[in-house]
Amino acid sequence: MRIIKAKSYGDMSRKAANVISAQVILKSNCVLGLATGATVLGIYEQLIDWYQKGDVDFSGVRSVNLDEYVKLPGDHEQSYRHYMDINFFHHINIRMENTNLPNGMAEGIESECHRYDALIEGLGGIDLQLLGLGHNGHIGFNEPNEAFEKLTHCVQLKDITRKANARYFQDEDQVPKEAITMGIKSIMQAKRILLCVSGAHKAEILKQVLTGPVTPALPGSILQMHPNLIVVADEEALALLYD
Ligand code: F6R
Repeated sequence: MRIIKAKSYGDMSRKAANVISAQVILKSNCVLGLATGATVLGIYEQLIDWYQKGDVDFSGVRSVNLDEYVKLPGDHEQSYRHYMDINFFHHINIRMENTNLPNGMAEGIESECHRYDALIEGLGGIDLQLLGLGHNGHIGFNEPNEAFEKLTHCVQLKDITRKANARYFQDEDQVPKEAITMGIKSIMQAKRILLCVSGAHKAEILKQVLTGPVTPALPGSILQMHPNLIVVADEEALALLYD
């Protein structure tokens, strides 16, 4: 595990964006595993800026996102497809047909999960997986559980997760109760993982995830077992790790 300490959220975003752009430069047709949420927004902004300056070219890149809400159409303001389109894809030269998210509107959710696993396998796996960290230690939408779920699956979102995401909806009732998420196996099979964490409110959970026991009760703790994990976090998020 390599921990890269950033001074601030902006610094974390730049450092993480550097890792992603290096990946794209080294392998122009790489498969990027992407995430949504507040933490990664600054990373996408930085990458867009470098793309506009001509420093990075996404024309060959393929992408697979971690997760999507069930029963939110792709053009719904709060769907992760919409998030990716407006915060990243529409501002760079990635080919839209090379961007993938689980389809939360699929008729059969189970077969959609199988389709997504087959898709990732067909792409040859993920070269670099970007991750944020949930307040309860979730990665993707792999919520605390009694066992690690290996494959793409449908998950009942925990109240803490729905509350955290309610800030984007008019009220908490509108936050979907289910999501499709890539499983732990697909995430762990990524050749490299980039975990990005910012802010004092994530300090305790980050410490547990990186130094506590590896347990499905804290899904992110499995990342300790990954042979090529890079953590980019700001001083506030790292505060309890060095105390
Ligand atoms: C989103 C995702 C989630 C977020 C996590 C942190 O695609 O997979 O695991 O990364 O909930 O979210 P923020 O960054 O909003 O704190």
